[in-house]
Amino acid sequence: MTSLVSRAPASGTSPYERWHRHFLENRDAPGALPWHDPCLLSSAERQLVSRSIQQFQLGEWARGRGLMRRASSHPVLATDSWFLSALQLFIAEEQGHSGILGRFLDREGIPRLTSHWLDGVFRRLRKLAGLEVCATVLVTAEVLAIPFYQALRDATRSRLLRSICVRILCDEAAHLNYQALTLGLMRRPLSNRAGVFRSRCHSMLFHSTAFLLWQQHHRVFRAAGWDFRRFRNATRRGFALLQLRIRQVSLRPGCADFFDALRLD
Ligand SMILES: [Fe+2]
Ligand SMILES: [Fe+2]
Repeated sequence: MTSLVSRAPASGTSPYERWHRHFLENRDAPGALPWHDPCLLSSAERQLVSRSIQQFQLGEWARGRGLMRRASSHPVLATDSWFLSALQLFIAEEQGHSGILGRFLDREGIPRLTSHWLDGVFRRLRKLAGLEVCATVLVTAEVLAIPFYQALRDATRSRLLRSICVRILCDEAAHLNYQALTLGLMRRPLSNRAGVFRSRCHSMLFHSTAFLLWQQHHRVFRAAGWDFRRFRNATRRGFALLQLRIRQVSLRPGCADFFDALRLD
């Protein structure tokens, strides 16, 4: 995985050059998490959040081989070596999230999951077709991860868990723009009708996944003071923003640049 990253391509016109730099800077940024904090979760908190953290720790982990393979054979994007090197760093950042959550579980004596049916469904969906489907499924999970980590941040009194959630939230907010760039560039040659069709399919996937997320993790949301209405509004806002950014990139090539990260509550 280091080869493309260390052999950075020539500087020039790629919109992924800044993303490459962003992921590198983010990886090397100081900002240690408070692992030394002696407080552990109370037994009620453990009961509340264990299953959810286990699922997200599993879901954040991916070797990314399928994604890299699809990216490397994409007729347009694969010609941009900044795209491939940024993608490797993006995958490593996601693996870092899984690593942090895994370390938290170990510290709390909560076992890591090796499989979960919902994670299995998502992995199978990602393998269904080419890069666009893979990126669409991934970004769907990422948009929904944002309200989840916001709720998890506020659901317990653990300072460590709060810091972990803040760190992951900052990364995920940037990921939305990164994924919008890729999806927007892939949809650029499409006719309006084909773009609308894709956007409708994505919307169906998104809303059914949001329903499942609430069904699986509503106790964490409720503990953080969220009701279903707040959850629905937050997820709809996140999805609308993603769709807008994808459209901006697909309609105006000049827009295919680095966006500031989303502002989060
Ligand atoms: Fe992540
Ligand atoms: Fe992400």
